[in-house]
Order: sequence, then C-alpha cells, then structure tokens
Amino acid sequence: MKPTRFLLSAWTALAGWTTVLPAQTSAAGPTITVNLTEPGPAIAPTMFGVFFEDINFGADGGLWAELVKNRSFEFPKGLMGWNVVGTGVKAEVIEASPLGMNNRHALRLEVSEAGTGIANEGFRGIGVRSAGVYRFRAFLRTPDRRARVRVSLCTPDGQRLAEERLSRVSGNWRRLECSLRPLSDEPKAQLRLTLEQPGTIEVDLVSLFPQEALQGPLRGLRPDLVQMLKELRPGFLRFPGGCIVEGRELATRYPWKSTVTYHRDDRPLLINRWNQEFKHRPAPDYYQTFALGFYEYFLLAEYLGASPMPIINCGMACQFNSNELAPMDQLDSYIQDALDLIEFANGPVTSPWGKRRAELGHPAPFNVQMLGIGNEQWGTNYLPRLDRFTSVLRARYPELRLIGSVGLEPAGPMFEFMTRSLRERKIDIIDEHSYNAPAWFYAQANRYNNYPRGISRIFVGEYGAQTAGIARPDNRNTWECALAEAAFMTGLERNPDVVQMSAYAPLFGHTDAWQWTPNLIWFDNLRVYGTPNYYVQQAFARNRGATAVPVTIDGSTRNGENNLYVSAATNDAGGEIILKVVNASSSARTVQIDLLGVRKVGLEGRAIVIANPDLNAINGLETPLHVCPTTAVFPLSGPSFEHGVPGYSLNVLRIPYK
Ligand code: AHR
Repeated sequence: MKPTRFLLSAWTALAGWTTVLPAQTSAAGPTITVNLTEPGPAIAPTMFGVFFEDINFGADGGLWAELVKNRSFEFPKGLMGWNVVGTGVKAEVIEASPLGMNNRHALRLEVSEAGTGIANEGFRGIGVRSAGVYRFRAFLRTPDRRARVRVSLCTPDGQRLAEERLSRVSGNWRRLECSLRPLSDEPKAQLRLTLEQPGTIEVDLVSLFPQEALQGPLRGLRPDLVQMLKELRPGFLRFPGGCIVEGRELATRYPWKSTVTYHRDDRPLLINRWNQEFKHRPAPDYYQTFALGFYEYFLLAEYLGASPMPIINCGMACQFNSNELAPMDQLDSYIQDALDLIEFANGPVTSPWGKRRAELGHPAPFNVQMLGIGNEQWGTNYLPRLDRFTSVLRARYPELRLIGSVGLEPAGPMFEFMTRSLRERKIDIIDEHSYNAPAWFYAQANRYNNYPRGISRIFVGEYGAQTAGIARPDNRNTWECALAEAAFMTGLERNPDVVQMSAYAPLFGHTDAWQWTPNLIWFDNLRVYGTPNYYVQQAFARNRGATAVPVTIDGSTRNGENNLYVSAATNDAGGEIILKVVNASSSARTVQIDLLGVRKVGLEGRAIVIANPDLNAINGLETPLHVCPTTAVFPLSGPSFEHGVPGYSLNVLRIPYK
C-alpha cells in the first residue's frame, strides 16, 4: 500500500510551512509570569499516554490488519461474513481443523456450476489499493482428486480487481498462498473463492493481509494506524481497555493468558462486549480473535517507547451490565492471573511464564512497572477484592505500582468515598475517569491544585469532552472539545506531583463500525485521520516538560484567569522553557510574557499553534488536517516580551534560555 497524504501527520505535512512570526508591537494584555527561580516538581515521562481498547473495531478490523472477517468459521453463526456467489452452491460449516484445538470448524463448499463459490465481506468491506500487494493464505483440501480454486478480489458488484489460481488443492490439508495485485483502489472489496469446475473443497483459516503490514517489527499491525500512535509519542500504553477487561459477565472477561498460550491462529474466539452494548449501534459481527493479544500489546508498547500498563480483571464483571462477582473464596485464580502476568512480562526465562515470553520471541523482560487492578470499579464489592490483590502483589512485587479505580464519576458521594478509601489503603495510583461537557474541563483546570500531595498519585485514566453526552451517538470531535481538554491538560502539567498519567479515551473508531463516539483517531478501511483532540494530545506529549515551573496570570496562581489557561516547564535536556497557553476567548490577544530568573534568551523561540475561529470545526477523512498544528519561529529580544495568541488557540512556545 502506497503511503497517502492521510498517513502524514500535520507535523510532517507542515514542516515546510514554517514562517517567522513578527515581533508584537501592540499594547500588551494579560501578563504571564514564569518563575524559574523556584522550579517545581518533576513531570513523569508517563504524563501523557494512550488508552487502547478493542471498541469501535479498534483491534479486529482496525489495528490488526487481517482483512478477512470470521476467517476460521468459529463465529457462533459459522457463515457470518461469508456470502454465496452464484447458484447451486452448498456452503456448510463442518467440524474439521487443519491445526489446533480451539479452531474446530472449517467450511465445506460444494458447487454444481463452474465459477461459483463464496465471498468474504471483510470488516464493512475490504479496503485495497491498486499499488498494494495482498497476501492470501488458506488451508484447503478436496475429497475430489483435484480441484482448481480461483482467489479474487472484486468490487461489491462483482467486477474483478485481481485474480490468482490455486491449482495444488489435494486430499490433505495444505496451506496455499498467493499474492493479489488489485487493478484499482476499492474501499469495499470482497474476497472470493470460486471453483473452476463443479466439485467440493474444504477451507479453513482464510487470511488476507496487505503485504506492508507483514513487514517490520510489528508484523500484522496496520502501519498507518501504528504511525499515528508513533507520532503521538505516548508515555504509556494502557491495554486491553476499558470495559473489555471486565466483560459483560465474568465468562467473557478478557482472557490474557489464552492470548499468549495459543498460537495466533488458534486463540479461542470470544464475543466482543461491545457487540450488544448499544441498541442504537448494534454490532452482531463483533468478535475477538485475539490475534492482537497481550504479547502483541507489549511489543507495540516497546515499539512506541511507551511504558506498558496492563489492566487485569479483579473478579468483577462490568458493573453497568451483569455486575457479576467472583466469590471472595474463589478469588485466588484471579490473583494468580495477575501474578502470572507479571512473571510473563518481567520474569526470568527460567520461570514458566518468562519462558513462554522467550518462546514467543522476546527473552528480554518487558519491564512492567504498573498494573491496574480492575477497570472502572467502585463500591463495597470492589474494596475487599482490591485488598486481596494488593496484599499478595505488594508482598511479591513491592516495586510494582498498583492502580485502583474510583469508578466512572469524577465527583459525588461515591467518588468521595472511593477516593478516601483508596487513600486510606495507600494505593499507589488512583484512576479517575471523566467524560463530560467542555465547560466541565475548563472548570476543572484547577482541580488538582488542592489535592493532597505525597499519597496516592492520580491517573486520569479516561477522559474526553462530549458535545452531546456520554456514549451519545451524536457526539463530535469538535475544536471546542479539544480546546477545553487542552485547558484541562495545563492543569495536569501544573500539578505533576499529583498527576502522573493521563489518557484520552477511546483511542480508535472505525467510521463505519463504531459503537462509541467521540474517539481520538478515526479510520476507514483505507484511510486514517487525527481529530483536533489528537493534535492537542500530540502537542502536549511531544512538548512534555521534565520539570514544572510555577506560572501566574496577572499575578494570580488560578488557572483560567482572563480566559487564559497556562502551564510552564523546562525540558529534559535543560536550556528550554516550554510554555503552553490556551486562549479560550474568541479574540486574538497580545500577552506579556515575563521569565523571572532568566538572564538571557536565545535569538528566537518556536511556536506550535493549533487555532480555529470556529469551535464546531472538525477533521474528517476528506479534510484530515482542517484543525492541525502549524509551527513558526518568533524573534526574542529578552526575558520579557510580548507575544500574540490567536482566538481559540493552543500555543506551545519553546523558548531557549540561560
Ligand atoms: O472508553 C469507553 C468506555 O468508557 C470504557 O471501556 C470504560 O472504561 C468507560 O466506561
């Protein structure tokens, strides 16, 4: 697949547009004072990370680049995703398997007319490009002496885009493969298997990958989506979710062990909990193959340079659904799962689970330093379960930082009770979730100023501004939401001794197959784009400081004074001030910036600016860079200077100093 303009981040795309901003001459407005004489606390490298969940077809049909849905005929409706091509075709799912113990079914296809067979519809179609090469593989056998099978990619109305012949189908299971090169681009192609003559074949594990997804260190992942993550520079990767950790019932909780125990082609299938969650967005074909499993998540984290943050089920199914509980006297197996997970990630290759990691190809440890105990749990059923987990884990892995949850609400009696309870337990990190209106995010820009220091750091584990309401289908990723999140994020950066980590949620949404909106990154079968929220996350993560520096607006320590939201820090290497200014008013303004304790500044600073006068502005597949950053340099004459900020803008100023 040829890289398209959609694969380029705005940073890359706009690199050549760098302009020089004129020095400001108009009368200065508000004064931002950055006090370098009193450096503040360190900002954790994990401050801005990503939350991955298999929601909205984020894994199968998304990050996992397999293009065939129900490729092993293991879905409860065995032919889901497959449609007969032509007449006189009998397609049935039979008990047969060329390999493995979990993949128990195969397809028997009997055709009475030449040129007929079966077609796979992919994940809301199969996206192919004319410049791409697509690797087809399948197990086939025939009870007839020989069978000739044609493999083709077709448009939805049956026009052939590419075709190859498999002529070596014989009586024994054999894995056959070919490469398909489509004549033209098609976002909704189908994959057809047809017989040249009447006859019978049996088929299993039908697979089609873009060749480019099979190259490089992350074999099997969709390169354009990985690139979007890489360009975010996340400090951590939380996986595998979300409610998916919990399951609607315990039987459908996330089974991390089977994702590393079995071969990728033979992992037991499970219904995705988002399959039935929303009546307004049903997804009856949403299942988890776990081809993207825990080993793959660890590899992805390593590739991204992000700290891995696994979340484990704590013996509770989703409290919004069945609320099923593992009885306290049956919790040991859940706790053992957590112990085994840490051994899998960090243990020596001589340990049983460390050995498994080495067998999969990674003898070196993955260096997990934190673990989430449950996802979005709360209440008196959670606390005793959390206690059992923490007592065992603390004894065995004292250096591991444990994350406890306070539930969905970021305020209210349950939130207060849970926060108090978790602090009493001296839990290392408290996971707060906040889905709210943009106004809430502005109002919370001072939220962490008065949190107690020294105990239980905060992980803002899931947040996102909503235009309509939580899980409402009419939410949009508007600039208004993204700007409000930017204001909130300055409040996180001002309090790094309280807040250690944060992540927008959810991460991915398939434009034709989503359940939840808004999402950080949207994609279809060929394209991807970052939302305004994505570019805000990127601006913060790529310009994270190392040490916070106190900052005031017109002498006030209150963030949001005069409709400005501000944070300041110095960078890792030293020698640079990183000042973030959110102008939440519609008018462009000139601000006075005073750098206290600075003797000399460099000749010029660098500004990364995201601005749009229209708060309803959004990005889309056709307009992926409508709201995106621009970079510019601006002249500096001394430690006190004026600087212009556009209306409704996030401005990241990088100022060299001595
Ligand atoms: O991000 C979507 C969902 O929101 C997550 O799965 C869950 O933790 C929260 O309720």
